[in-house]
Amino acid sequence: MPDTVLAAEPPATIDALDTPALVIDLDRVERNLRRCQDYADAHGLALRPHIKTHKIPEFAHRQVALGARGITCQKLGEAEVMADAGISDILITYNIVGEAKLARLAALARRCAIRTVADSAEVAEGLSAAMRAAGLTLPVLVECDTGAHRCGVATPEAAAALAARIDSLRGLRFLGLMTYPAYGGTEAVSAWIAAALAACRARGLAVEVVSSGGTPDLMRAHEVAGVTEHRPGTYIYNDRSLVARGACAWEDCALAILATVVSRPASDRAIIDAGSKSLSSDLFGLEGYGHIVEYPAATVFALSEEHGNLRIPPGTQGPRIGERVTVIPNHACVVSNLHDFAYGLRGGKVERTYAIAARGRTQ
Ligand SMILES: Cc1ncc(COP(=O)(O)O)c(C=O)c1O
Repeated sequence: MPDTVLAAEPPATIDALDTPALVIDLDRVERNLRRCQDYADAHGLALRPHIKTHKIPEFAHRQVALGARGITCQKLGEAEVMADAGISDILITYNIVGEAKLARLAALARRCAIRTVADSAEVAEGLSAAMRAAGLTLPVLVECDTGAHRCGVATPEAAAALAARIDSLRGLRFLGLMTYPAYGGTEAVSAWIAAALAACRARGLAVEVVSSGGTPDLMRAHEVAGVTEHRPGTYIYNDRSLVARGACAWEDCALAILATVVSRPASDRAIIDAGSKSLSSDLFGLEGYGHIVEYPAATVFALSEEHGNLRIPPGTQGPRIGERVTVIPNHACVVSNLHDFAYGLRGGKVERTYAIAARGRTQ
């Protein structure tokens, strides 16, 4: 049986790429990374980019080379891939629960600088037991729910109480506070964190790091009380959701799916060869599943797994069968997770192939 070499040698021209293909505009990536690093530098903030968006070690290295303090991963499996690729300073922003994962965490902490979060005494105690057994000390941040209502302690006083608990546990070092803020919530986040800092101070606890995150309010990151670092993820590519929120322009969107029109079943519809397995079915609060660059008035109104259903506005021609279109997805992070490879484009050419090495690392 012949070996299947998945896109090891990319075709030289964009036209020769078969579809659906995940493509990355490398000049835009570089511009997005630099803009954010310049902002962080100007405000004295450490940048710790979240790699959940790209999952590509080469881009993590580029972020560090431009000045990032380290990286952030959501899952242990992502962190293992990044450590294997030589990234040496990693924050895992996820409660690590269960013996199997705690053993992997200890193994990881032996080979690079790892820090993580906890939002309960149970999680902290699990971390402490694993670190004691391994003879290590793990820096831990208290995850705070400042309004996004995912994980996180619910009040500033609870944050200080958990900080004190972590401080008392062998194998752990209380490092600071971490939050993933709700979009548009900068003032509320700041007030919450200010209260938590005061509560920690009242208990005599030093807070070394205040870590916030996200791209939509990125340029207001410095307004959060006591903030020392920011964790943007999507900023590397941007996406349709960020354009909708006014956080960037279409020209800042670096990630797209190249698709081919395979059917024109009616004058007001076109079918492309990218469905939910390429674009994801994440609406992210928007109408439609993506933005067609060449036909901005068209809408991707429905998806099945391998078909994207486009509505062509009345009185317009729309694409012909065989024509290629470029789709900017609603949510870049989930799209990265669907593809093994991405093609890096520059100057109208395919420069190289990237393996999306941490895709699928959901454990
Ligand atoms: C904990 C955490 N930090 C940072 C980020 C990055 O956010 P964004 O993709 O908006 O930049 C995320 C994204 O989900 C996150 O969950």
